[in-house]
Amino acid sequence: MISARRRTTMATNKLITFVVLLVVLEMVRSEDSPCGFPAIFNFGDSSSDTGAFPALFPAVQPPYGQTFFGMPAGRQSDGRLVIDFMAQNLGLRYLNAYLDSLGSNFTQGANFASAAGTIRRVNGSLWTSGYSPISLDVQLWQFQQFINRSRFVYNNIGGVYREILPNPEHLVSKALYTFKIGANDLAMGYLDNMTTEQVEAYVPDLMERLESAIQTVYNLGGRYFWVHNTGTFGCLPYGLVYRPDLAGEKDDAGCSIALNAGPRFFNARLKEVVARLRVALPEAAFTYVDLYAAMYKLMSEAKKFGFGDPLRVCCGYGGGQYNFDKNIRCGDPVLGGKSCVDPSKSVSWDGVHLTEAAYKFIFDQIVDGALSDPPVPLRRACQGKGQ
Ligand SMILES: *[C@@H]1O[C@H](CO)[C@@H](O)[C@H](O)[C@H]1NC(C)=O
Ligand SMILES: *[C@@H]1O[C@H](CO)[C@@H](O)[C@H](O)[C@H]1NC(C)=O
Ligand SMILES: *[C@@H]1O[C@H](CO)[C@@H](O)[C@H](O)[C@H]1NC(C)=O
Ligand SMILES: *[C@@H]1O[C@H](CO)[C@@H](O)[C@H](O)[C@H]1NC(C)=O
Repeated sequence: MISARRRTTMATNKLITFVVLLVVLEMVRSEDSPCGFPAIFNFGDSSSDTGAFPALFPAVQPPYGQTFFGMPAGRQSDGRLVIDFMAQNLGLRYLNAYLDSLGSNFTQGANFASAAGTIRRVNGSLWTSGYSPISLDVQLWQFQQFINRSRFVYNNIGGVYREILPNPEHLVSKALYTFKIGANDLAMGYLDNMTTEQVEAYVPDLMERLESAIQTVYNLGGRYFWVHNTGTFGCLPYGLVYRPDLAGEKDDAGCSIALNAGPRFFNARLKEVVARLRVALPEAAFTYVDLYAAMYKLMSEAKKFGFGDPLRVCCGYGGGQYNFDKNIRCGDPVLGGKSCVDPSKSVSWDGVHLTEAAYKFIFDQIVDGALSDPPVPLRRACQGKGQ
C-alpha cells in the first residue's frame, strides 16, 4: 500500500514536472519565435520582387520559376528568393506583390519591391530608360495606401476581404520591414559608362533618400528594420559584359575590382546610415545585413560549396566565357536562352540574377546573424535596439 504521504509527494512531483514542462515549452516557443513578427513588408528591386513588375509589364516567361514553382512565379530566378526563405523561416506565407491583384493573400504582409527598381526616380519611362517607374518613393506611397485601404476594407467591407487582408491596427508596429535596394542605382551609372568616382559621387544622394524612406516607415509606426546591403555587381556577367573596360582587372574570384568598388562604397555609407538611425530612433531595432559578404563568399568559394563556375550563366545564350549575351536573355521565346540541366549547381541564373540554390546559400549565411550588425538572427531582429 502506498502511504498518504508518499502519494502526496508523487502528486507534488507530478505537478512540479508539469510546471517545469510548461516553462520549458514556453521557453521553446519564445525561443522559436521571440519576436513573433506577424508580417513582412518588403521594399526593393528584382532580387526581392515576387510579382510587382510582371503585374504591370510583360509577364515573366519560362523557364523562370521552373525549379520550385513549376511555372513563372513573378520572380527573376528559377525558384525562391532570399525574401521567400526569410518568410518561410518566420513561419509566414511567401509574400505577394502589392500590385498583384489576382489570388493574392496579404494577411501576413505585402511586397512593394519591383524588378528594375531604384532608390532615385528614373528619368524617362521604362521604354526609354529600362528602369522601373516603381522607385523607392513610389513603393512607400503604395505602402501607405496599402495600410489605409486595408484598414478601410477590413473594417467596412469585411466578408471575404478579412481572409485576404490584414487588420493593420497592431500589424504596422509589429511587422518586420525589409529593404534591399540600390543595386540598380549603381548599375545605372556603370552602364552609362561612368567611372567609379562618378558613381560614388551620387551615393550620398541615394543614402539621403533611403534614410528618409526608413524614417517615413518609422513615422507610420514601423519599428523593426532589416536592411540588406547591395551585392557583388562586379561578379555578375552582365556587369562584366557591359563594362569590358572595367572587367580587365579582376580579383582572385574573377570579379571586377572596379565594378565592386561602387557597391563597397555604397555599403560602407549604408552601414553608417543604419548606425545613425539606431541612435536617432532608439525605439526601433535596426539590423544591417552584409549580403555582399555572403554573396562574395559564394563567388569566391563556389566549388567548395558544390557549385560550378559562378560566372557561367545557367539560363544564358552564346557559350563563351560567361554563356551570356546581353541581347538574347533567358526565356527569349525565339532564340532560346534555355535553362542548363541542373540549376542547383549554378550560381548565376540569367547573368543578372542568381539561382534559387544560390539565394538559399546566401540566406543560410545571413539568417543566424553572423553577417549582421548587431549580430542578431532573423527571428530576433526585434532585439537589435539602440547600441
Ligand atoms: C534626372 O534628371 C535630372 C535633371 O537633369 C537630374 O538632376 C537627375 O540626376 C536625373 N536622375 C537620374 C536618376 O539620373
Ligand atoms: C492615409 O491616411 C492618412 C490619415 O487618414 C492620411 O494622412 C494619408 O494621406 C493617407 N495616405 C494615403 C496614401 O492615402
Ligand atoms: C490567407 O492566409 C492566411 C494565413 O496563412 C490564412 O489563414 C487564410 O485562410 C488565407 N486566406 C485565404 C482566402 O486562403
Ligand atoms: C559606353 O561605351 C561603349 C564603348 O565605347 C559604347 O559602345 C556604349 O554605347 C557606351 N554606352 C553609353 C550608354 O554611352
